[in-house]
Amino acid sequence: MAKSKFEYVRLFEVDDRCLPNTWIVVRVDGKGFHKFSTEHGYEKPNDIKALSLMNRAATSVMEEFKDICLAYGQSDEYSFVFRKETQAYSRRSAKLSTNVCSLFTSAFVYYWKEYFPTIKPRYPPVFDGRTVLYPSNQNIRDYLSWRQADCHINNLYNTTFWALILKGGLTPTEAENKLKGTLSGDKNEILFSQFAINYNTEPEMLRKGTVLVRRKVPVALPNGGTREKSQIVQEHVDIIGDEFWNTNTHLLTFT
Ligand code: GTP
Ligand code: MG
Repeated sequence: MAKSKFEYVRLFEVDDRCLPNTWIVVRVDGKGFHKFSTEHGYEKPNDIKALSLMNRAATSVMEEFKDICLAYGQSDEYSFVFRKETQAYSRRSAKLSTNVCSLFTSAFVYYWKEYFPTIKPRYPPVFDGRTVLYPSNQNIRDYLSWRQADCHINNLYNTTFWALILKGGLTPTEAENKLKGTLSGDKNEILFSQFAINYNTEPEMLRKGTVLVRRKVPVALPNGGTREKSQIVQEHVDIIGDEFWNTNTHLLTFT
């Protein structure tokens, strides 16, 4: 087919393929979710429905992109880890981040009604997306540890902050001042001594975030037997220590 004289503009599109043999992470993060959560009446400091909707949207992404071996989510963000050797979209960075981000956002809206049946979205939610590469197994583990540590630090702070306001009657400024310079032990102590809250018994989804992995689970057959089927499951476990990785060696093994 004859090419038009305009064809040359294709040359302006740069090659953004990710390096081979590196972990690819696509992270999506809600835009302005401080406002979005307030406008939609999210419970403070954590809204289980909202976090469950995030988990549902992330599951849709993993169902579509089979090369995602693990996803980790907390607050308004989700990280998707592609197998090191994935050839999805020829490893093109923008293709990966835009497709993941777009599907995540549309799934978030698609399933909204199931989690917030009485609240109509007041405006369309937006998520940003980025692709980041991690060359070594240690790097990818440290990346995921960074996100889970962030979850822990923010959740302990927010749990204490909102206990001081909602149960302790402090204003937000008073609560902020009270927490200024405190260490995690101090916050645990405030929760326990003033509000009889043992932080360690708070729901694991809130303290640890959510890990999505594929596991073989038995499913019932019509004839009464069972067979193993790969399913995406949610786990709220520690991914900073070695235990998770020692029991899931396949995740970091190059196949
Ligand atoms: P940008 O990401 O920079 O656009 O800003 P952001 O407002 O989304 O802030 P960021 O991503 O740093 O933090 C997420 C914010 O979402 C939190 O600070 C909370 O205000 C809000 N948020 C996330 N999850 C919950 C929740 O379960 N309950 C409530 N009340 N708020 C939440
Ligand atoms: Mg955000």
